[in-house]
Amino acid sequence: MSKLEDIVSLCKRRGFIFPGSDVYGGMAGTWDFGPLGVMLKKKIMDEWWKFFVESRDDMYGVDAAILMNPKTWIASGHLATFADPLVECKECKSRFRADKIADGISESVTTEEFLATHTKCPVCGKENWGPIRKFNMMFKTSVGAIDDESATAYLRPETAQGIFTNYKNIVDTIYPNIPFGIAQQGKAFRNEISPRDFILRDRECNQMEIEYFVHPNHWDKAFEEMRSLQHNFLENIIGLPTDKIHEYEVPIEDRAHYSKRTIDLMFDYPNGEEELMGLAYRTDFDLQNIARESGKSMEYRDKITNETFVPHVIEPSIGVERLFLAVLSNAYTEEEIDGDKRIVLKLPENLAPYRFCVSPLLKNKPELVTKAKEVYDKLRTKYTNVTWDDSGNIGKRYRKQDEIGTPKCVVIDFDTLEDDTVTIRDRDTTEQIRAAIADL
Ligand code: GAP
Repeated sequence: MSKLEDIVSLCKRRGFIFPGSDVYGGMAGTWDFGPLGVMLKKKIMDEWWKFFVESRDDMYGVDAAILMNPKTWIASGHLATFADPLVECKECKSRFRADKIADGISESVTTEEFLATHTKCPVCGKENWGPIRKFNMMFKTSVGAIDDESATAYLRPETAQGIFTNYKNIVDTIYPNIPFGIAQQGKAFRNEISPRDFILRDRECNQMEIEYFVHPNHWDKAFEEMRSLQHNFLENIIGLPTDKIHEYEVPIEDRAHYSKRTIDLMFDYPNGEEELMGLAYRTDFDLQNIARESGKSMEYRDKITNETFVPHVIEPSIGVERLFLAVLSNAYTEEEIDGDKRIVLKLPENLAPYRFCVSPLLKNKPELVTKAKEVYDKLRTKYTNVTWDDSGNIGKRYRKQDEIGTPKCVVIDFDTLEDDTVTIRDRDTTEQIRAAIADL
């Protein structure tokens, strides 16, 4: 099995992530987070919110509706241009994203350029392709009891537009000084032609995005600040190693229609280097489009200079699932200790679903169980994320806690009853020390 398959299997076995609609045979590109996955995902999202919003006085949060007035997607350009190059094999009828199956071509590839690569169909091995068609990735739905064109709406393909459409509300209610940012976390939907690599490319994902509004003359300074903040967050808060993160300056032909500069931060995933997040200079593209489509001014008046202008925007955008997979694949370790093989998730303490696991050495000794429950209650009151485990033998419990990344296991034994000390076993070193309950 590949490392990615091992991770998928661990995720299912230990309740992190299940295939979406598993009971009915699944649904491609969708995944359900189980109890452990929800805890890890929430911690990742909370760390992002604390770092980028709560700890700053220039950031404001929004939680906009997923369904938006369809004018949003006309103004933003998504209706016209949010499309991938779709190619169909005429032999077996399989469909692919052309730029993902041929080397050295971009998203804007033409039929001629693609045919010149002499790519074989990954399913049937033949080389008999139809023309490249642009396939719009937005999911269409209808709103209300009418089922005609007038009821058409789209599931948002990026959370960003819920921010742009609230820019004026925030300027008119909070009166922020420029530069300021608006942040949002939430679902985004994309009808990906080929979802793949577990949760790396989904049809439904969560994004964490900031639109940082600046004076047009100051965009490059803000871009550099955001760039270094992203590294700081990924490396120092989330604990990803510096040498697994790489910057990619996206060339003009591959940049999104709204961007004048984009740097993608790439991560070394188990199946190779892939985009983890993007940092884009969106200029005033979105606010100008909204002004035109809505007829409302998007100008900002500087409180000190009285100058009026439409702000420019720096946008860091990261997918929660991609960050989740980066964290998981970085933590996933198979090793041998004293001849015993084990799988361990070496998660940073701030992200591990549980900080402690508490167990009685033997579950059929009521005096041990009672004492262990006391310790469990004490730790749970203090730290909240504490789990109880009295199943199987102690070796099996350690193996399970290693696999879910619990940093410390606390075991109550007969000595505890005498001297109020416990054994604390460390996840990464497997070393055991004796400590007083009072010091936990
Ligand atoms: N608002 C800008 C924007 O949406 P993007 O590069 O299309 O830009 C930003 O997406 C981030 O969202 C990506 O870097 C990735 O982390 C995440 N993302 C995009 N599509 C995804 C998908 N199909 N599955 C999982 N994550 C995705």
